[in-house]
Amino acid sequence: LIAFTFQPLRKILTKITDRIFFKEQYDPEAFLKETNKILSTNIILTELLYKTLDHIIQEMRILEGTFVVVEDDKVHTIQSIGYKSAPDIKFEDVKKLSRIDITVYDELEEGNHLKNILRKYEASVVIRLMEDHQFAGLLILGEKKSGDMFTAKDIEILEITAPEITMAMQRAKQYEEIQKFNLTLRAEVMRKTKKLREANEHLQEFDKAKDEFISMASHQLRTPLTAIKGYLSMLLEGDAGEIKIGQYDFINEAFQGANKMVNLINDLLNVSRMSTGKFFIDPMPLDMKKMIQEEMKQLTTAARQKGLFLKFEAPADMPKIEADENKIRQVIMNFIDNSVYYTEKGGVTVKCSASHKDFVFEVRDTGIGVPKEMQQKLFAKFYRADNARRLRPDGTGLGLYLAKRVIEDHKGELIFRSTSGKGSVFGFRLPIHSPIKVDPKKHELLNLH
Ligand SMILES: Nc1ncnc2c1ncn2[C@@H]1O[C@H](COP(=O)(O)OP(=O)(O)OP(=O)(O)O)[C@@H](O)[C@H]1O
Ligand SMILES: [Mg+2]
Repeated sequence: LIAFTFQPLRKILTKITDRIFFKEQYDPEAFLKETNKILSTNIILTELLYKTLDHIIQEMRILEGTFVVVEDDKVHTIQSIGYKSAPDIKFEDVKKLSRIDITVYDELEEGNHLKNILRKYEASVVIRLMEDHQFAGLLILGEKKSGDMFTAKDIEILEITAPEITMAMQRAKQYEEIQKFNLTLRAEVMRKTKKLREANEHLQEFDKAKDEFISMASHQLRTPLTAIKGYLSMLLEGDAGEIKIGQYDFINEAFQGANKMVNLINDLLNVSRMSTGKFFIDPMPLDMKKMIQEEMKQLTTAARQKGLFLKFEAPADMPKIEADENKIRQVIMNFIDNSVYYTEKGGVTVKCSASHKDFVFEVRDTGIGVPKEMQQKLFAKFYRADNARRLRPDGTGLGLYLAKRVIEDHKGELIFRSTSGKGSVFGFRLPIHSPIKVDPKKHELLNLH
C-alpha cells in the first residue's frame, strides 16, 4: 500500500518543490521568441554566446553550459557559464562529439567512450552546431538544477534553435573578421603612408640637390657666356675694326645664340632661386626707357631677318622707376623675344608710359596669338600653347611663369590680351615707388649671387 501510494505522493511533492524552487516550466514559444531576439540583436561573438547561453540555462534551469566554436579544425572560442572552474575542453573530444547531432548522457550505455567524455565535462546534453554540412561547434549543457532528465520537449526546442544559433554565430564571426581586416587595412595604410612620406622626403632632398646643381651650373655657364656675348656684340658694332659683309651674318648668328643661352640660364637661375627660397626683389631707381631700348637692340637683327618691324613708342620724359633691374630686364626681354618669335608677318610695337603713380609697359604684336581655351594656363610653369609648339618645338615655357612671379612680387599687375591668329598684347603695370622693403639679411643673400 505504501508503495502504491508513494508514487503519486512523490509526484505531488516534486510539483510543489518545483513551484517553490524552480517556478513553472518555461513556455516554449516565449523561449524561442527571446532566443531570436538575442540572436538578432548581438553581433559581437562573445556577447552573443554569453547572452544566448545565459538565456538557455536560466530558462531550462540548467546548472552550467558551454559554447565551443570551431574553425579550420581548431577551437576558435569557448564561452561557458556556471562552472566552479571553467572546463578545459580538448579538441580531440570536440571532434568525437562532432559526429552526432545530439548526444544525451542518460541515453548512452555505461562504458561508451562518449559517455566518458560527457562525464568529464559534467555534460548532460551536447548539441552539434552545423552550417552547410560544416561542423561549426558544440553547445554543451550540464545537469538540470532539479536533477531531472532533459525532456523530449527540451531536446526538440534545442534542435529548433541550434541552426539559428549557428547562423548568428557565423555572422558574428564574419563581423569579427571584418573588424580585424579593418585593423590590418588601417595598419597597412599607415605603413604605406609612412613609406610614401619617406619617399617624398628623399625626393625633396633630391630636388634640392637638383636645384643646387642647376644654380651652380648656371652660374658657371653664365660668366663665360656673358663674356662671349659681349665680345660678339663689340665685333658687330665694329669696335675691333670694320667687319666684312659675309662675316657680319656669322657673327650675328653667334651673338643671337649666345643671347638666347644667357636668357635661358637667367630663367633657370630664377626658377631655382624660387624653389630654394632665394628669390627676392631688390628695387632700385631705374631708367626704364634706356633699359627697354638696350633689350630691344639685342633683338633688332632677329626681327629684321624675319621681315618684321620692331617699333618703340615712349614719351620724351619718364621718371625713374623703382624695380629690380635684373628681373625686370628679364621680363622685358622675355616679352619682346616671344613677340618676335611668335609673329610671322607684321611686327612688334613696344610701348611704355607713366602716370604719377604707375608705369605701364606693353608689347603688341601681330603674331599667332593664343587660343582662348589656353589663355588661362599660359602663365603656369612649363606651359606652352599648341600653336606655339607647332611653330617652335623647343621652348621651355618658363618665361611667362617667371614674368608673373616677378611682376606680382613687385606688387604690380600683368597685362595680357590675345586673339588667336591676330596677335597679342603682353605687358605689366608697376608702381613707380616700390612698396617693397628689403630686409638687410636678404640683401646679404642677394649679394652672394
Ligand atoms: N607673343 C606671343 N604670341 C603668342 N603666344 C605667346 C606669346 N608669348 C607667349 N606665348 C605663349 O605662351 C607660352 C609660354 O611662353 P614662355 O615665354 O613662357 O615660353 P616659351 O616661349 O614657349 O619658351 P622659351 O621662352 O623658353 O623659349 C608660349 O609657348 C606660347 O604658347
Ligand atoms: Mg618665351
